[in-house]
Amino acid sequence: MANSLLGRVAVITGGAGGIGRASALALGDMGAKVVIADISIDAARKVAEGLNSDGLEAHAVQVDVVDEASVKAMVDEAKDVFGRVDILYANAAALDLEMQQHDRDVISMDPEIWDRAMAVNLKGAMLCCKHVLPDMLERKAGSIVLASSGMGFQGEITRSAYAASKAALMMLAKSLAAQYGKRGVRANAVQIGYLPPQDASKSTLPEVVDILVRHNLVPYKLEPRHIADVVAFLASDAASAITGQTIVADGGFSAHTPTMNDMINFMSRSGLNEM
Ligand SMILES: NC(=O)c1ccc[n+]([C@@H]2O[C@H](COP(=O)([O-])OP(=O)(O)OC[C@H]3O[C@@H](n4cnc5c(N)ncnc54)[C@H](O)[C@@H]3O)[C@@H](O)[C@H]2O)c1
Repeated sequence: MANSLLGRVAVITGGAGGIGRASALALGDMGAKVVIADISIDAARKVAEGLNSDGLEAHAVQVDVVDEASVKAMVDEAKDVFGRVDILYANAAALDLEMQQHDRDVISMDPEIWDRAMAVNLKGAMLCCKHVLPDMLERKAGSIVLASSGMGFQGEITRSAYAASKAALMMLAKSLAAQYGKRGVRANAVQIGYLPPQDASKSTLPEVVDILVRHNLVPYKLEPRHIADVVAFLASDAASAITGQTIVADGGFSAHTPTMNDMINFMSRSGLNEM
């Protein structure tokens, strides 16, 4: 896949974060020029500098995806610097501590928390699509990838707003595919599974990490590079037949029965098999 994106330009929102940075690296390794767009310009610059010093072509832009003028300015800057936009990875999401602590069950939901999740995660992705599409349609080619989540597919006891926003992104991919597919633009979502935090200061309780990782079907913990490879594949012509889909990249978390681990424990306690 090396050089398969030579000459293409990718905009990655939330590009300074874990999966955003890894995706920029994966797309850059395939030859794309990458725009690292993030609300934190310092963090975006640091990522872009790192990629540039690795011999890739990267440019940092500040964007607040909630603000349409800011999104338009991001796309204009991407075109000024690199001439075009071929790929959008809409990856930015409101994942800060406030959201983690206050986005819980529906009865306790603060409507402002709900609105913020919808604004950043969903409206933000839509605005980015809205402003990259004209350039893609002009050249009759483009690939849009939306960062969804397993929480947008399976019910959980918490994070109701995040989950609803991520479910809606799966539908947004279908709308985009239906509306612009015949004009050369593909759109897909990635249902991302749980990645244990690499930064201990952001960390979830170790017990919670263990529960989530135990339900994967692969023997390793998922890392940003695993998701980045899927994003890069969807962005590339290797995925020409795929549009309007949600590709599940969750290490098998959603592929087994909810009772599987209880069953393994039961069988092991009962001496019924070796698992
Ligand atoms: N990490 C996981 O376990 C996981 C699981 C499922 C889905 N996802 C999804 O993957 C994507 C990336 O997650 P991550 O773990 O890399 O998160 P992260 O927190 O490392 O990165 C998110 C980035 O988005 C940026 N951002 C936040 N608000 C913004 C705004 N208004 N405008 C522009 N940028 C903004 C942040 O500054 C940050 O750099 C998210 O959409 C997330 O919902 C992650």
